[in-house]
Amino acid sequence: MTAPWPRRPRLVAGNWKMNKTAAEGAALARELAGLTGGGAAAPGCGIAVCPPFTALESVGAALRGSAIHLGAQDLHPEPGGAFTGGIAGSMLAALGCRFVIVGHSERRHGMGEDDATVARKLRAALRDGLTPIVCVGETLAEREAGRTAEVVVRQTHAAYDGLEASPALATVIAYEPVWAIGTGRVATPEQAREAHRIVRATLDRVVGAGAGARLAVLYGGSVTPAGAPALFAEAEVDGALVGGASLEAASFWRIAAAAAGA
Ligand code: 13P
Repeated sequence: MTAPWPRRPRLVAGNWKMNKTAAEGAALARELAGLTGGGAAAPGCGIAVCPPFTALESVGAALRGSAIHLGAQDLHPEPGGAFTGGIAGSMLAALGCRFVIVGHSERRHGMGEDDATVARKLRAALRDGLTPIVCVGETLAEREAGRTAEVVVRQTHAAYDGLEASPALATVIAYEPVWAIGTGRVATPEQAREAHRIVRATLDRVVGAGAGARLAVLYGGSVTPAGAPALFAEAEVDGALVGGASLEAASFWRIAAAAAGA
């Protein structure tokens, strides 16, 4: 296992989703690596990019020697075997991945991934030395029905239930309200604060007292360079999981710089 991600770091991770070929991804990664000045990333802020599986190798090569971490967008819960199309955590680790996104809403709602599967993937990531970025968040209908807290508690509880404190603390959570993803409708800092507090309180109950304060909770959903400073000024927001704005080096870099400076 790799060393656990340090407690409550700032992290800005780019989720490229189903964008960028291997060559396009490498070009973007080279631009980002160039922005780090060939050495340390923006001070005080971890940076990661999560390309599609097919670009992991080329992006990893382009990032080599830079402080930018490599991550994947998903993994199979099993360690290997007859799972056509599956990608095991060990395969991601072998490509140099440090992170893996688990339970993204586009997989929960678009590909039928349930809470139990997300929990298995979280454990699979830890087993293979990866830091899972565990996504939780309510849909618009759930928010409008006043069910945000219930959904965030249920998803967080299901993912962490039964996990020892030490592995649980080697994870990162991303609160991504589904209604904010790709819509241009970013959550207010107050909405993010409220949800992040619910996540932390749930971790305190499930993992152990004090766990919530030690885990990094990122916000995701329509984060842009313009909106990032207000989000990062909120003490409950430890960074961001960025979709669209991570597909261009300059905008992603500005978001990372805002997180580092906050
Ligand atoms: P956008 O930043 O494009 O809204 O996507 C957010 C997201 O889903 C990151 O995982």
